[in-house]
Amino acid sequence: MNAYSNLARPLLFRLPPETAHRLTLASLRFPLVPRILSAGTPAPEDPVELMGLKFRNRLGIAAGVDKNAEATLAWHELGFGFAELGTVTLHAQPGNPKPRVFRFPAQKALINRLGFPNLGAEAIATRLRALRERHALNNFPIGINLGKSKITPLPEASVDYLGSLKILHSVGDFFVINISSPNTPGLRDLAKPDDLRRLLSNLQEYNRSQSNPKPVLLKISPDLEFSALPEIIQATREFNLSGIVATNTTLHRSKEDPTESGGLSGRPLTDRALAITRAIRPLLAQGQVLIGVGGIMDATDYQARRDAGADLAQVYTGMVYLGPRTAWKILRPS
Ligand SMILES: Cc1cc2nc3c(=O)[nH]c(=O)nc-3n(C[C@H](O)[C@H](O)[C@H](O)COP(=O)(O)O)c2cc1C
Repeated sequence: MNAYSNLARPLLFRLPPETAHRLTLASLRFPLVPRILSAGTPAPEDPVELMGLKFRNRLGIAAGVDKNAEATLAWHELGFGFAELGTVTLHAQPGNPKPRVFRFPAQKALINRLGFPNLGAEAIATRLRALRERHALNNFPIGINLGKSKITPLPEASVDYLGSLKILHSVGDFFVINISSPNTPGLRDLAKPDDLRRLLSNLQEYNRSQSNPKPVLLKISPDLEFSALPEIIQATREFNLSGIVATNTTLHRSKEDPTESGGLSGRPLTDRALAITRAIRPLLAQGQVLIGVGGIMDATDYQARRDAGADLAQVYTGMVYLGPRTAWKILRPS
């Protein structure tokens, strides 16, 4: 019997999605809970070194699952190879009015229009500093996804990202610049070449001035035209970014898709995110890393993403449907 799909999921799915998520995170903060859920099963092993970081396997938690670094150790305990925390913004902010997350089990999808609710860079840095003092977290890199605060006008976006990077630089193993969430007005405009170059230049200038520069990646939207990809990747090469995270949620809807407004994720995103991954791989410089995310719902999707050129992969919606044993289900299907 699959305890999650038969027991826990039906109960959790009776709650509003955000409530279920909050309860899940709150319970995962108790070390015993993830330990019981993993039942002593060793994490799937597929060690790899990328961007100068050691990963015990190639599957991580996508941004948005743990925006405030509440349950960082739990992701390690639940068999994942890395975690991308955030999105974190310079200023703490409440996000958009509720309800703002919607489940569509028939389509194995979610729609969200959260708008980056989070405690802000300072609070999250404090939390991660305390965690790192107590735990070594070997071979389990922690990425931090950075976004723009809602109150910061778009022309000042790079000041906002830079402020967060400075505050969080010492506590993240790598950073992801998020210019692709659909729920912050104007954010996706930062993918325009001139704006993107200004942003990447500012961030890398600071990063490279530090004694220990960190890998910086760019997270892109699945709604970009294929024709826009070469120039974006070229900008990441120019500023020595370590790679790309592809993709965020989509605003696109086909006839069968749910119509609620916001970013769509899960099964309806699989094909588009896979196609973007495949298109990006040959554009990257040697050594640039590609993290594939978007509609990875099972082991077959994971393998397809790897075959398309992704070095690492991430899940969000897949975990909502697969439960706490997601890492084993995707990496060690029996
Ligand atoms: C409820 C929810 C919140 C999310 N929040 C963020 C976020 O804060 N930052 C971000 O870069 N992506 C965020 N994402 C996007 C995911 O990281 C991922 O790119 C996207 O959902 C596609 O993967 P999936 O199909 O496995 O969910 C969020 C997704 C969901 C469903």
